[in-house]
Amino acid sequence: MSLFNKIDKFAKEEIAKTGLPQIYNYDIANSKAEELARSLGGANVDLAKCGTALMDIKLGEAVSKGMQPQHVKMSAEYAKKALIKLKVDEKTTELLLNCVLAHHGQVPYQSLEAEIAANADCYRFISERGVFTTYRFALELGKNHNEALDFVQFKLDEKYKILSLEKAKKDLSDLYKQLSSIISKAHID
Ligand SMILES: [Fe+2]
Repeated sequence: MSLFNKIDKFAKEEIAKTGLPQIYNYDIANSKAEELARSLGGANVDLAKCGTALMDIKLGEAVSKGMQPQHVKMSAEYAKKALIKLKVDEKTTELLLNCVLAHHGQVPYQSLEAEIAANADCYRFISERGVFTTYRFALELGKNHNEALDFVQFKLDEKYKILSLEKAKKDLSDLYKQLSSIISKAHID
């Protein structure tokens, strides 16, 4: 069984508890990590997918406690425990923890796999489904229509800035501009 298959089990248990990240968003990041890793070459496909599977593993718990900004730290702490349980070697553990800690651009990437994981995450948000999912999420947080749109734009901008791989930029740049234009027109004066 690959390391990804083992981590996938842990991640799906967490998703089953809270519904977050939504299973389709979880799947998008994993499949885009695989696609980017294969197209780039030189990256370990399994590790890139482990990175995306782990990066938001505690998002649901963080959101349920009103601690969404802390989900990166919480996910890293949980990932560390899970990797120890799975007897993963120190070097791989370090690489995967960096995938988690760097996926919002807060710390530098220490590997190509970490860069792939962060770029793969962008496909969740810079998409038609991503903006509506984020909009609904913002309303659930109590934001009004315009505030929710601003939140969606904030997330789009955050993810656009993270795009660093040529393929991801090529795939998502035009869509980012189209979605941003629609959002700006959707505000109520
Ligand atoms: Fe995240």
